[in-house]
Amino acid sequence: MNEAQSVRKDMAAEDVLSAARALIAGERNLVANCANIASLLWHGVPRLNWAGFYLFDGVELVLGPFQGKPACTRIALGRGVCGTAAAERRTIVVPDVRLFPGHIACDGDSRSELVAPLLSGERLLALLDLDSPDIGRFGDAERALAESLAALVSQGSS
Ligand code: SME
Repeated sequence: MNEAQSVRKDMAAEDVLSAARALIAGERNLVANCANIASLLWHGVPRLNWAGFYLFDGVELVLGPFQGKPACTRIALGRGVCGTAAAERRTIVVPDVRLFPGHIACDGDSRSELVAPLLSGERLLALLDLDSPDIGRFGDAERALAESLAALVSQGSS
C-alpha cells in the first residue's frame, strides 16, 4: 500500500506522523513538503475547515499550500493569530476565535484555531495553521502533533 492509500479520516497521531515522515522522505523542497502535509491533515484529521501553511518571506507571511476555502494572502507579523505566533515564534491555541482580539476571519466557519511555527534555529520559515468549525477543537494532543509536524517539515526541507 502506498502512502496516499493509507490516508483516511480520523488517523491516530502516530499514523499521521509516520505518513508525514514517509511523504517528505527524500524531498527537501519546502513548498512540496508543506503541500503534502496540508493534504495529509485535510484527509486524515476530522473536524477541520482549513489546514495549511503561511510562508515567511523575511518581511511578512505569504499564503502557502493549503486545503480549505481561499484565504488572505498576506499577514503582517503581529496581526491575527498567525501574525502573533510568527512574531513570538511560538505555538498558539485559540479555543474560541471570537475571543481572540484581532483574529482574521478568512473563513467565517472557523471557531477554533491552532498555529505552530516552523523554525530553523531561531529563523522563522513558515507557520502551520489549522482551523476548525468546532469550539475547543484543539488540545494538548493536537498541539503536540502540530509541533511534531512543524519540526519534521522544517528539518526535512531547505
Ligand atoms: N485566522 C488566521 C488567518 C489565517 S486563516 O485562518 C487561514 C489569523 O487570525 O491569523
